[in-house]
Amino acid sequence: MPALTATAPAKIILFGEHAVVYGQPAIAVPVNQLRARASILPAVKAPPGQIHIQAADIGLEAELQELPEDHPLRILLHNVVQVLDIQHIPACRIRMTTTIPIAAGMGSGAAASVALIRAWSSFLGEPLGDDRVNELAYEIEKIYHGTPSGIDNTVITYNRPVYYIRDYPIQVFQPGRTFHLLIADSGLPARTAITVGNVRQAWLAQPQLYEQRFRAIGDVVRSAKEALETGRLTEVGDLMDRNQELLSSLNVSSPDLDRLIQSARQAGALGAKLTGGGGGGNMIALVEPDCRPAVRSALLAAGAVQVIEAQISPSP
Ligand code: PMV
Repeated sequence: MPALTATAPAKIILFGEHAVVYGQPAIAVPVNQLRARASILPAVKAPPGQIHIQAADIGLEAELQELPEDHPLRILLHNVVQVLDIQHIPACRIRMTTTIPIAAGMGSGAAASVALIRAWSSFLGEPLGDDRVNELAYEIEKIYHGTPSGIDNTVITYNRPVYYIRDYPIQVFQPGRTFHLLIADSGLPARTAITVGNVRQAWLAQPQLYEQRFRAIGDVVRSAKEALETGRLTEVGDLMDRNQELLSSLNVSSPDLDRLIQSARQAGALGAKLTGGGGGGNMIALVEPDCRPAVRSALLAAGAVQVIEAQISPSP
């Protein structure tokens, strides 16, 4: 029997990270050229229930039973078995691979969860639909991040541009034209759990000030949705700059990200900002197609370890 395989895309948050945890809207899009993959093969000679798991990108190779009970992979597989009410689990080998930079603010963890939930439920004979996949992936995000907004698992599961408000049904939206982005990795790990925790502490200490900043980010996101839908490129760039200013006021940027953002703007990007949790990880720059080579070179010269091109396109 061939391996049963499922994949899921990376994501970037275009607007609204951090404030989205506090009920403001955010906009995120999938990045389909980067993907997490889960493959499952039956292990005919192994005793029933024995699960061997290999995830070389995170240095993991083990029998599932050897992992601590609170290991996210163990919880994920268990939760799917429970939801499907499966009594007999065939022995198998699970192999996880990814081309998504890990801990870089691109949703590598959520993509791995979505791919594994899909492959595992199919392997067990009852492939889960998107809504269930999304719920289960959200439970695993909570283990990684404590108080996630749910935006990562949502955009990755549905694989569409989303306008997301925590605890509300997802809204997909249609960009009015193709937008070109460069995504540059600072080479330092994104510190999402830390920056989210720091923002929470700061909000608890100065609730009015922080809520004012969150609301200002919400205003940027609402304007950005309209500008994206109507294809107003320059305005989208300006709003990215404004969003970055507000993220800096939350203290979630870093000198390395600031340097990349500055260099992209100087090389002709229409706007630039960090994406995801910040503290490290990736930044994004909005570019006209003819500006791509200059901005890419500037980003590499400013210390980016990798620059990826992505497009946000209207769906056919
Ligand atoms: O760093 P990432 O890709 O996991 O994105 C985190 C986004 C935040 O808004 C900072 C947190 C969240 O749960 O939405």
